Amino acid sequence: MKANTVAYLRCITCGGGLLMDDVTEESNGDIRSGKLICEQCGAEYPIEDGIVDFLAEVDLVVRSEIEGWEKMYSPKTVEQRPEWVLSLPYLTPEIDPDEDSRIVWKRNGDIFHQMVKKLGLTGGERVLELGASTCWATQQWVEYGCEAVALDVTKNLYYGIKSGQLWMDDRGSYFERMLCDMHKLPFEDSSFDIIFACAAMHHSSDIETAFREIGRILKKGGRFACIAEPLSNIIGETQVGEHEIELGINENSYTIFEWKRAIRGGGMKPEPFLDYHYRDDKTGLAKLRAEKAYSPNPIKRLIKSLAFSDILPARLRVHINMLTSQMSCFNVVAVKQ
Ligand SMILES: C[S@@+](CC[C@H](N)C(=O)[O-])C[C@H]1O[C@@H](n2cnc3c(N)ncnc32)[C@H](O)[C@@H]1O
Ligand SMILES: [Zn+2]
Repeated sequence: MKANTVAYLRCITCGGGLLMDDVTEESNGDIRSGKLICEQCGAEYPIEDGIVDFLAEVDLVVRSEIEGWEKMYSPKTVEQRPEWVLSLPYLTPEIDPDEDSRIVWKRNGDIFHQMVKKLGLTGGERVLELGASTCWATQQWVEYGCEAVALDVTKNLYYGIKSGQLWMDDRGSYFERMLCDMHKLPFEDSSFDIIFACAAMHHSSDIETAFREIGRILKKGGRFACIAEPLSNIIGETQVGEHEIELGINENSYTIFEWKRAIRGGGMKPEPFLDYHYRDDKTGLAKLRAEKAYSPNPIKRLIKSLAFSDILPARLRVHINMLTSQMSCFNVVAVKQ
């Protein structure tokens, strides 16, 4: 980590300021090894491979998440290769033969760029990515001219925060990497212009707390954006990864009302934006139909077809989709008031 990043960090135990200590390895101003010490309570946070570790005392829910991802990736998969990570989010059949996986990644990549356009960056924004995993999006933020921080609870290369190094070595970029739980963020109030998450917020089993923390560290007028989060429809139907749940990963699905309430609770004004929802993706749409994501109920089907037609204005379609679908992905930009 860079020495000047310490200026906006604080202790997760008591909120006190942090001091750098025991620096044993430094390269080009990047501290590779050392520790941060709280000047108030004395808590210590180690720095290893340039990554600060705030995970010493996580709760059982987060512990289960960390162990779940370790189990998920204990058999070697196609994903555990530098070239796979470095191709994200636009995988080719040569890199990943699994078409379903390629469709979802492409969808997330497309929504990401739509969202960035909506934000209208002016350059130099400080961005925090929650649940950054492979850091594909953190790298994109840097390429868009932002100063970025990647944060996750998983450490491992290829599916955790250590993947950040792959991008930095390959692209000659730099971003901060932190191991930390999103419910207890180690940053001073009003530290960020943008806070972002892709398919990560639903891993919070306490979104009220998560959004209060996000609101605290966001500057007034700053934006929170999350994309590709699962959504329960109004009668509670949902589709989340069953295999992940079996492994102990926290796969939650909230309704549009729950998301909005939690975001407002963090002092932000939410504005959901176009639900991409495979609408422009013929293959994805066919797959959804094949998987019977479409309701057999004719009234619901009528509502759904309206949501997919161009008769209605885009904003209304987004809302119909979010209320009725089990496969909808929730995308929102929210402004800190
Ligand atoms: C479905 S993955 C999405 C990863 C990445 N954003 C992407 O687009 O590929 C969810 C990520 O959220 C992380 N996560 C889960 N609970 C978390 C928590 N409490 N704090 C921070 N990150 C968390 C997981 O470790 C995982 O990397
Ligand atoms: Zn402290």
